[in-house]
Amino acid sequence: MNQRFDPSGPLRGRLRVPPDKSISHRSALVAAMASEPVRIRNYLQAADTSSTLAAVARLGAIVERRPAELVIRGGGLRNALPPTATIDVGNAGTLMRLLPGWLAFQQGHSFELDGDESIRRRPVDRIAGPLEQMGARIEAREGRFPPFTVHGAQLTGIEYELPMASAQVKSCVLLAGLVTDATTVVEPVPTRDHTERMLMRAGAAVKRELAAGGGVRTTIGNVDELEIAEIDVPGDPSSAAFLVAAGVLVPGSNLLLESVGTNWTRSGFLRILERMQAIVLADIEPVGAFDAEEPVGDLDVRSGALEATTVAPEEVPLAIDELPLVALLGCFAEGETVVRGAGELRLKESDRIATVVDGLRGLGADIEATPDGFVVRGGGGLRGGVLDAHGDHRLALLGAVAGLASREGVEVIGMDAAAVSYPGFADDIEGLLQ
Ligand code: S3P
Repeated sequence: MNQRFDPSGPLRGRLRVPPDKSISHRSALVAAMASEPVRIRNYLQAADTSSTLAAVARLGAIVERRPAELVIRGGGLRNALPPTATIDVGNAGTLMRLLPGWLAFQQGHSFELDGDESIRRRPVDRIAGPLEQMGARIEAREGRFPPFTVHGAQLTGIEYELPMASAQVKSCVLLAGLVTDATTVVEPVPTRDHTERMLMRAGAAVKRELAAGGGVRTTIGNVDELEIAEIDVPGDPSSAAFLVAAGVLVPGSNLLLESVGTNWTRSGFLRILERMQAIVLADIEPVGAFDAEEPVGDLDVRSGALEATTVAPEEVPLAIDELPLVALLGCFAEGETVVRGAGELRLKESDRIATVVDGLRGLGADIEATPDGFVVRGGGGLRGGVLDAHGDHRLALLGAVAGLASREGVEVIGMDAAAVSYPGFADDIEGLLQ
């Protein structure tokens, strides 16, 4: 489905953004692993998180949809039911990389996972490596791509230093570590910590400390059962980021985005925006907080002029999904905006360095790709034109915001991809125009 986004008048009003995708995935997985029913409020209703519900149901969890909440009744840590068919993860990389952490200790059982065309290009050797060190066996196409099979086994604890900044890999190892005496993951730079927080609330012994050089060392211990009665999912800061960018770029805008997650491991984009002189008033969790709860707050966004900035490699994991928006904002900012150390972007739902740079250049941007990021010479704004989403939800949403801020509008090819994380985006924009 193609959709046009024309230059917009001021965007004004209050809005609740969609529930957090990362936390929704984790809530369904942890609930399926728990021994008592879990009530989940504000679960994201989108394609990716529906894949997770379907997956846990195939593994034996009972998923009950009530009007205001979801109730998941799992069978306990070691009781995933071996399904008769392949588990389809759809487009969901988080599901594909977290679920094997649980499956890896279902002794004597095997589970095959597969997904869509984009998933089949995304590497799983990054989780197979540590899981095999722990004792599980993984068979993947060409040794590193889906479809792949997880053969469950008795696991032993490891100390694992993440070779790349990936919350998905960290989470996978921590889930597998639940049944070991002790498993430690060392991250050279911090990544989102929703798994750690949720497992702490579910009764797991999680110890977190600062590691040398600003990284984090997380140890998880042996737990018999997980128990967490309720999970409230906050608004998704990554979905909010598209509205933040629209509010900053479209002259005369003033938006209040309500109940957004303000966890510091997800707030890198807001810190980058602050340096760009954007006006976003928000009460963000202090950097380095190790709480178990997920903090929530409102974002008050106003349009205004922007200055260019440089994003350093250590900032990348805390703004990874918002970096396409940094490229867009860079087109409107005075000076040269540079992102470095973001080679991981090439392994997302699309090669986001190539698709963002080609996409924005097609709309008139002065932008160049580098091996691990991009350089934008800004100030000229965007003419507009046609942007292909390449089946990537964040590209589709980027094209839509670019259209609102452009001089001539943007036609987004494949806008339906937005349904992966933010199905109601176009309607939300409509509502802010009245
Ligand atoms: C996610 C982690 C990040 C992020 C993805 C969601 C998560 O991926 O890009 O959208 O929920 O853990 P990586 O862990 O591969 O960096």
